Amino acid sequence: MSTSPEPIGVIGTGYVGLVTAAGFAALGSDVWCVDIDAAKVQRLRRGEVPIYEPGLEEMLRDNAQRLHFSTEIGDALEHARLLFVAVGTPPTYSGDADLSAVHAVVDAIPAAHDRALVMKSTVPCGTGSSLQRVFGENGKQGLGYVSCPEFLKEGSAVHDFMHPDRVVVGDDGGWAGDAVVELYGPLGAPLVRTDVASAEMVKLASNAFLATKISFINEIANVCEETGADVVEVARGMGLDDRIGAKFLQAGIGFGGSCFPKDVDALKQLAGNSGYHFQLLTAVIEVNDLQKRRVIGKLQRHLGGLAGRRVALLGLAFKPNTDDMREASSLVLSARLQADGARVAVYDPVAEEQARALVSGVAFAASPLEALDGADAAVLVTEWQELVELDWNAVAAAMSGNLVVDGRNALDPEAVRAAGLIYEGIGRR
Ligand SMILES: NC(=O)c1ccc[n+]([C@@H]2O[C@H](COP(=O)([O-])OP(=O)(O)OC[C@H]3O[C@@H](n4cnc5c(N)ncnc54)[C@H](O)[C@@H]3O)[C@@H](O)[C@H]2O)c1
Repeated sequence: MSTSPEPIGVIGTGYVGLVTAAGFAALGSDVWCVDIDAAKVQRLRRGEVPIYEPGLEEMLRDNAQRLHFSTEIGDALEHARLLFVAVGTPPTYSGDADLSAVHAVVDAIPAAHDRALVMKSTVPCGTGSSLQRVFGENGKQGLGYVSCPEFLKEGSAVHDFMHPDRVVVGDDGGWAGDAVVELYGPLGAPLVRTDVASAEMVKLASNAFLATKISFINEIANVCEETGADVVEVARGMGLDDRIGAKFLQAGIGFGGSCFPKDVDALKQLAGNSGYHFQLLTAVIEVNDLQKRRVIGKLQRHLGGLAGRRVALLGLAFKPNTDDMREASSLVLSARLQADGARVAVYDPVAEEQARALVSGVAFAASPLEALDGADAAVLVTEWQELVELDWNAVAAAMSGNLVVDGRNALDPEAVRAAGLIYEGIGRR
């Protein structure tokens, strides 16, 4: 007879915490979730899902009897010895990670020999060892510590939890690391069991590498524009080399989101604080900042100035299939366009509520065609399927101008041109 996997606590029920909780509940654990956001906890208790993440609602519903939500950490402490920490680690003004939420969790956990923190939040390399020192200074040396960085992608987070490319467990070889490995066992993913510092660095280095790949292909796109090559063809030719791989070679208006910008910056600062100047990452960040603004240059070139022009931004979320607006390219674009005097209409299938808190001065439209009504130019900002598959004849009829800037190289240029529109991609002929 097989026994159920052990119960766990999950502290922080955002994109990572909620998916982790639902995933382990689906694997059979009782999961005790804790969040300081009382309104969020109330919603979760009512069966509402506070974020948009495909498949998450069903997963939470199917495993509701094993999921418990509270604002009190005591409930998790009572039932679980492994406490997965998934609180936010946003950037500070200095670019370092803000670990105040992590410290608040550490402070709330009493001394115990049979409990451990499992760090899912992305933290700078060295955090585990400094937290263990804090445990020691506060008489909590018996607490275990495991670094178990998270690699899920918003938009496919449920799938990514169930089918991880790898599971990384960094610890000192004690019971807690073994228990975490056992919990992930049913997923059958390759395991990297290592020390805490190396596990922390795997996460930061992975995000920095992916961001580098994006900035690299964006620079290639910019050179393509000068030389007559087409970056889509170039990326296809490069990506078939399995040393390179096809993923993250799509040129566009740069990366955003809650992870890449802050994690790349945090690694750069971490290196700097340790006495090393990480030159490459400095360039990756700068290329990304400039890439968002290149769209403005394209619009100016075609429209001959932006004052009084009407521009429709199609998509607001930092990528499709999420409502996450953190560091979205649309934030820079809408502000920059308005600064140059343009009138901006925007549409996003799910991120409008989040965007309203961050974007001012724009007209929110209920449909793509409403945003495009009377527009001089359209910019595809987020490649939602609904936007990629727009009826371009209807678009052309709605617009007063004829310029379509494909900020994600996701549209079919021929289909756009066939409707009598001008197609302008990123690095495309
Ligand atoms: N979002 C992603 O795609 C992703 C992927 C991998 C790793 N990460 C990392 O995971 C961590 C969490 O990211 P997220 O996107 O889920 O963040 P989030 O902002 O969506 O969620 C964080 C949650 O923690 C709660 N919280 C804050 N302080 C708390 C405390 N003291 N006690 C209990 N709850 C508290 C907040 O109320 C919020 O609900 C970050 O370190 C992030 O870098 C995120």
